[in-house]
Formats: sequence, C-alpha cells, structure tokens
Amino acid sequence: MNILAIETSCDETAAAIVKNGREVLSSVVASQIEIHAKTGGVVPEVAARSHVDVVLAVIDEALQKANVTSKKIDAVAVTAGPGLVPALLVGVDTARALALAWKKPLIAVNHMAGHLHSFRAAASKTVRYPVLALLVSGGHTELLLLKDEAHITLLGQTRDDAAGEAFDKVGKILGLPYPGGPAVSRVALEGDITAYALPRPMLSEDSYDFSFSGLKTAVLDVVREEFSRKPSAKQIADLAASFQQAVIDVLVGKTMRAAKQYKPKLLVLGGGVAANTLLRESLATAAAQAKLQLIVPPMNVCTDNAIMIGLAAYLQAKYKDFVSLEYLQPNPNLALH
Ligand code: KG4
Ligand code: ZN
Repeated sequence: MNILAIETSCDETAAAIVKNGREVLSSVVASQIEIHAKTGGVVPEVAARSHVDVVLAVIDEALQKANVTSKKIDAVAVTAGPGLVPALLVGVDTARALALAWKKPLIAVNHMAGHLHSFRAAASKTVRYPVLALLVSGGHTELLLLKDEAHITLLGQTRDDAAGEAFDKVGKILGLPYPGGPAVSRVALEGDITAYALPRPMLSEDSYDFSFSGLKTAVLDVVREEFSRKPSAKQIADLAASFQQAVIDVLVGKTMRAAKQYKPKLLVLGGGVAANTLLRESLATAAAQAKLQLIVPPMNVCTDNAIMIGLAAYLQAKYKDFVSLEYLQPNPNLALH
C-alpha cells in the first residue's frame, strides 16, 4: 500500500511516499526557516502563503523521486492538526483536491501521532509492547504509554512551555538566530554545563508532568543580573550548555522513572527536540543502563516531515480510519489521547 503523505502544520512544506507503513520511497521537505528568521518566529499567514507557493511542487517531486504516478497511490494522508490553522488548511485542501481528482481514500492524521510513530522508520517489523514514548516538539512535551498500537495513555505533559518552545525562547534571550533549538545546542557544544546552577523543574515531584517556563525565567535572571550589556561568547556558551543540561536532566530523569514504574519493552523518542544530539546520547546511555531497548528515529524523521505522517496513516488505514472529503477539517487543537 503506497500512501502519499502531506504535512503543512507549521513551517515546513513536506510530502512523502511511504510503502506498507515501513518503506520510505521518497521524502521532500521545503523549509521556511529563512523566511521566518527575518521575524524571529512563525507568522501563520506568511507560513500559509509559502505553503501555497510550493506545496504542489513538493508533492510532484515526492512522486518523481519515488518513481510512482498517481495510479500507484492507494491513499492520500494529511496532517489535520494540531498546528496553525492557515498553514494546516493548505495541506488539507490540497489533499482533499487530490483525493477527489484521483478517487483515493483520505486519511486525517494527528501531527503528534506522526511524531509518536516516527520510530517505525527505524523499527523492526514486530514492535513489542508496552511502548513508552517521550515526545518533545515546539508545541508539545508528552510522556505516553502504548498498550498496543491503538491504545495510548497520557502519563504526563507540560504545564506551560513545551521543551522546544523553551529552547526557542532561550535562544532569543541569548541573542541567537532563529530557530533557537538548534542554535542553543550548537553554542552549548563550547560551554560548561556546571557554569550556572539552574533549576530542574518538577524533576523530584511525584508526577510525570513537566514545566519549563521557570527554567526559561531563571536563564533570563542570569542574563539580567550577571551579564554586562555585551556578554562574551563564553558566557553565552556556558549559559546555553547549563540550560540544555537542565532540560535534558528533567526529560531523561522523568522518562526513566516512568520506565521503572511501567516496565515497557521499548522506549521511543520523537519530535523536533529529538534532533538534539545530547538528548539522543543521554537517553541512549540511560536506556542502556536500564537494559531497555530504545529507538530514536533518524534526525530527518524527528523534525517536521511527511514520512511520519505516512507511517501513522498506514496504521489508521489498517483500522479503516478514513475521513470523507466533506468532513476533513483542520483542527488546531486536535488531541491524541
Ligand atoms: O517537531 P518540530 O519540528 O515542530 C513542531 O511540531 O513543533 O519541533 C520544532 C522544535 C523547535 O522548538 C526547535 O527549536 C526544536 O524542535 N529543535 C531543537 C533542535 N532541533 C529542533 N531543539 C533542541 N535541539 C535541537 N537540535
Ligand atoms: Zn512537529
């Protein structure tokens, strides 16, 4: 079964052809980073206009790279939410038009289900359950437990800022370029993680919820109280490294506590922040110590892409979870559980 998957929920226009929920025949991502760098963040209408400009070319390229025509496509899948409504609408309307023209079934995919199932790009055919998942993106931070591929329980989530959002805000505070996540992790490479004593919010609390807003404020306090008008590169690197370590200590600490309690057979990581090298390494070390199998998707399947939408869509197709042309709507608050 070949699925054409389309993703336009935020600032990447992406299309992929995924075969039988496992094999990636092609994947194309057109990033809008350069456009949004000018404003230091995503303006929804600007993102939408840019999606309109490239979405058909991106889909065409995905079909060509996979060497398939529309006749060989069995279903069209698209991100229906969560995300920015004007941006989501572009993908949704494009998918609807293609499904109508090609007479193919439509699958509405939750963007976070995409991040959740992205590990399947690197998994063997049989996945052993229960699976514990840590999802860390620009809008979400969630710990989930999967009893099987269809039953998801939320163990905890952020009470304020998502992990990626905290990285992005700290990037701004430190005067780094947009987007903050990759920029913070880049300068942190040169920094000392013990230079600034930052809090590990909620790490010791008996809850799987997260909170990163206080940590961001603690970074702001250091900048206000200890940095002169023009901080040195060393000060910025040290603060970036101390912040990154604090976030990772909390993410890894809580995940491994949940692993101890729920005894999963597999641990998976997903979302844009999963592209963070130190997080990938730290979780790998902790999982190895606990003798727990870990799957971290390749970097290009962590940040927004359409492969993950195709992987999630295949599971939905198995359960005949299709959506009618009339019913498909973008939903900015679409829930996963
Ligand atoms: O999943 P994603 O691409 O989009 C959303 O669904 O939100 O995640 C984007 C988030 C941004 O906050 C970005 O700064 C962060 O992922 N991110 C990173 C890294 N690469 C992307 N955060 C930390 N380290 C990175 N290397
Ligand atoms: Zn995402």
